[in-house]
Parts: sequence; structure tokens; C-alpha cells
Amino acid sequence: MKNKKHKVAIIGCGRLGQQYGMAYSTFPDTEIVAIAEFNPERRKAVGQRFGVNALYPDAESMLKEIVPDIAAVVTPTKWMKESVIACAEAGVKGVSTDKPLAATLSDADEMVEACESRGVIFAGGNLARTHNHVQEAAQWLKQGKFGKIKGAVIANMGERISGGGVQSISAIRLFMNGDVKEVICWGNPAETIDTNDDLMGSSGIFIMDNGITVPFYEGNIVASTNPRTDLNTGQINQQKMGIDVWTDDSLLRWFWDDVKIFKGFDETGKRKKLDIKFTDWKWKEYGYLTSTMRSLINAIETGSELAISGHDLRQALEVAIAMKLSAQLGNVPVTLPLSDRSHTMIPADGRWLGKDLTGMPQTYEEALGLTE
Ligand SMILES: NC(=O)c1ccc[n+]([C@@H]2O[C@H](COP(=O)([O-])OP(=O)(O)OC[C@H]3O[C@@H](n4cnc5c(N)ncnc54)[C@H](O)[C@@H]3O)[C@@H](O)[C@H]2O)c1
Repeated sequence: MKNKKHKVAIIGCGRLGQQYGMAYSTFPDTEIVAIAEFNPERRKAVGQRFGVNALYPDAESMLKEIVPDIAAVVTPTKWMKESVIACAEAGVKGVSTDKPLAATLSDADEMVEACESRGVIFAGGNLARTHNHVQEAAQWLKQGKFGKIKGAVIANMGERISGGGVQSISAIRLFMNGDVKEVICWGNPAETIDTNDDLMGSSGIFIMDNGITVPFYEGNIVASTNPRTDLNTGQINQQKMGIDVWTDDSLLRWFWDDVKIFKGFDETGKRKKLDIKFTDWKWKEYGYLTSTMRSLINAIETGSELAISGHDLRQALEVAIAMKLSAQLGNVPVTLPLSDRSHTMIPADGRWLGKDLTGMPQTYEEALGLTE
């Protein structure tokens, strides 16, 4: 298996699909054998950019001729379901998608079921929880290295709750090693509450299935110890989403950059920062997308756990929907899973329909990788 190249197809090769393309053409054990891209000009550009001749407008026409080992579905969300299910039916070994994976819960269920029932590995996408440091720190928490988890808090849930919000929800599920079983949420401003889209400033609580209550906030919390500085600029970034998780004597702090861990207290009672060495990892240039993609490859080769799965994305979408529902009903506690699978939350236009249909098309030169 070590020398065998996994045959990869990219379905939807816009801005994010091209990031997948760059990473899959860098890894020594993968080769891109086909691209399905709806936009004819961009199809030509990405074919040239990644040296691929097998070019198709969509998954269906591609799968008639080529069934890859791995399919990366990076279309706008509206077309993810048909592409993921077509790949599962055609017999790929693994298929990945991105967030949000669907608007309607029953669509997300069908995607998960289509893969599960055929033994196809269904991976999530470019989610920050797959960052190697986050994965490693979450393993340490799971192993009880810092003692029993006592609490957690989420800052900056993000105003798009099936977009940025899904990032926080996915990460807290990882750190807590479990699911959200109840949600109470307040929305802001008022005019965002009764809509069917994912726009809503959100504050409230998640009650996790391990019994811990996790508050979440629309805006920032003030992290008094070592505030969330941007590692590159040294500036405090007020917009960053962040999660703190604590035990009796330790605190794990993650504000999208490296995880910081504090253990014990100094003579004034302040937390003491540990000088933690995380395991080094290859292909850092693609950020946490690397970990997502490598975890899918590992899962295909060894059956190991995914850093983010399609199931995880479905669970996160369901929590986001429950948040809006709670706010709409008058801050009512909503228990999960939701029995009504017709609940729908439409993501931002650029995610739902893609950038071409929403006035932000990528130029030919950008698709060739010549300009940003
Ligand atoms: N996880 C993250 O951080 C993150 C970041 C960016 C985008 N995304 C998600 O990735 C998806 C794509 O986003 P993007 O920024 O690359 O959008 P984009 O509009 O730049 O690219 C989408 C591409 O898919 C193509 N396409 C549309 N329908 C298709 C179909 N049926 N078959 C094949 N190709 C099709 C379009 O022509 C376009 O080139 C969205 O769902 C978005 O939410 C996630």
C-alpha cells in the first residue's frame, strides 16, 4: 500500500477546490486523475494547472468513465448531496465534503446513510478542529492527562451559524468527546431570528451529553491570561472564535492558532503556561486542510478515525438549526436529536450557490493560480 497512489477526483474546483487540488498534487501518495467542474473556462484552467486531461462538467458524467478512490466534493453546498451520493453509489473508497454539507437535515441524513450503508468513508472538510495541535490536545483531554473536564466556554460563535458557527460546534464536540444534547439560544439582532437562513448573532448554552454546560457568546469574552494574539502580527484579534476548556488545575485555550495549555498556579494565583511541544507535521503550507485530507487517506488505509467526518458535519448543522429554533420559539430549551428532519437552514449565498452566481466570480488567471 505504501507505494500505491490513491486516485483522486475533485468535484467543484473553485477557490477551495483548488486548495484541495494543490495539496493532492503535492502528496507523494495521491494523484489527481479527474476533475468535475461546472464552469467551462475554470474547468480548462484547473485542468491545465493540475495537469489533468479527464475533465467533466459534473460528478455524474465523470463517474460514467472514471471512479476514483477518493472524491473531494467542493461544490457550493446546494450541489453537495447529489455529488456525494453519486460517488458513494459508484463505489469510491472515500468521499469528502465541506461545510455546511446541506441546508436540510434530511439531506444531510441521506448523505451520511448513502456512505455508511456502502462502507464508503465520508469525511468532513476544511474545518479548524482538524488542526494537528487541536487533535493532539483533544486526545490528551480524552486520555485524562489534565484531569476531569470541569467546564468550557465558546467566544464569538460567528454571525453565520452554519458557516463559522459550525467551526465552533465541531470543535467543542471534539474537546468534549461527545454530543450536544440540549440548546438554549438568544438571537441578535431581532430581525435575524425569524428567517430561514443562518445569519444570527447567537448567545446561549449547550448542555453536552457528559453533563457539562457550555456557554457560548456572540461576541468576545476577555481571556485574562495570555489573550488571543495573532501569532504573526502580535496583535490581539478581537474577531477570533475561541474555546477555553478547563479542569481542576489546567486550562486549554484555543483561539484558532496554536493551542495553549496552562497547568497549576503561581504564587499570586495566576495560571502557569506550559511549554508544550506538539508533534511536528508535514505539508503545513495547506494549514489544517492537510490534516483533514491525511486523515481521510489514513482512514482508507488503516480504518483509523477521521479528524472530521460527514457525520460530524451533520451533527454540527443540527446544533446550528436547534440554536435558531430555540431563539425563534422564545429561548426554549431544544433537545437533540431533532425529530423533524425537514428543518432547513440556508447558508450564505456564496456558500449555498457559489461565487459565480453571487457576483464574486473567480477570474481565469486566479483559477490558473497566477493571481490571488
Ligand atoms: N471550511 C471552510 O473554511 C470553507 C472555506 C471556503 C469554502 N467552503 C465551502 O466550500 C464550498 C465551495 O466554496 P468555494 O469558495 O470554493 O466556492 P466557489 O464558488 O469558488 O467554487 C465552487 C465551484 O464549484 C463549481 N460547481 C458548481 N456546481 C457544480 C457541480 N454541480 N458540479 C461540479 N462543479 C460545480 C463552480 O463552478 C465553482 O467553480 C462551499 O460550500 C463553501 O461553504 C468552506
